[in-house]
Amino acid sequence: MKGVLLAGGTGSRLYPLTRITNKHLLPIYDKPMIAYGVEALVKSGITDIMVVTGGTHAGEFLRLLSNGHEYGVDRLSYAYQDSAGGIADALALAERFVDDDRVIVLLADNIFGYSIAPTIERFKEQKQGARIILAKVEEEEHLHHLGVPELSDDGKVTAIIEKPTEPPSTYCVTGAYCYDSSVFEIIKDLVPSARNELEITDVNNYFIKKGLMEYDIANGFWGDAGESIDAYYTVNDYVRKFGVNK
Ligand code: DAU
Repeated sequence: MKGVLLAGGTGSRLYPLTRITNKHLLPIYDKPMIAYGVEALVKSGITDIMVVTGGTHAGEFLRLLSNGHEYGVDRLSYAYQDSAGGIADALALAERFVDDDRVIVLLADNIFGYSIAPTIERFKEQKQGARIILAKVEEEEHLHHLGVPELSDDGKVTAIIEKPTEPPSTYCVTGAYCYDSSVFEIIKDLVPSARNELEITDVNNYFIKKGLMEYDIANGFWGDAGESIDAYYTVNDYVRKFGVNK
């Protein structure tokens, strides 16, 4: 099982902080944001990791993480995304790294209060396909900025709507995705969305249509520190008080 941490994009929702650095290098309490994603993977037994980043601060990731050994990473690889073409576009850069293995993809601005190891264990038992983690979102306002699953009466995910004006449920799709290697063939057929990005939601909808998507419900705190400056501070406050990846 390989791990891919996505740390590219423009971080425009955290301007002007992200004019002078990459969003994933900003502090969350006492560590740069990316360190929590590395920790989440390592604590789940994934030590063969690729960081995908871009922009003018890419070199700082090398300076911070180096060969990853200090963080418990066995082999740390890097890829450079030329422009912010979307989450699926960033993931495509990991195709040869993942090869015919399976992969856990983490958005490096997503922070989990609990360990995601059980989800990874369940994915290992899955024959094929994909697995996602859904989180309950209390305030509807947040759902407009996230991917939201449509759920059938028997609890199956029937579709995911990205940034819905009318959210079909009160859950969001978090930025932790488990895929088999077929994901890279799916990405090749994607067309850019209205915001000119290759959307991970289109990838997930493909697996859903094929009946190959499973999910778990978040078992504790989840936050997207890149959603807004308020979300960034909510995540900071939580981490300071309770710690994460437990
Ligand atoms: O946080 C969970 C949400 O993440 C999901 O609910 C949505 O379905 C999913 O699309 C995503 O939405 P965001 O609008 O929050 O994605 P954002 O553009 O902020 O990108 C999330 C991370 O992906 C970001 O921290 C870095 C990485 N990324 C993003 C882009 C656009 C890249 O590595 N390269 C990119 O080109």
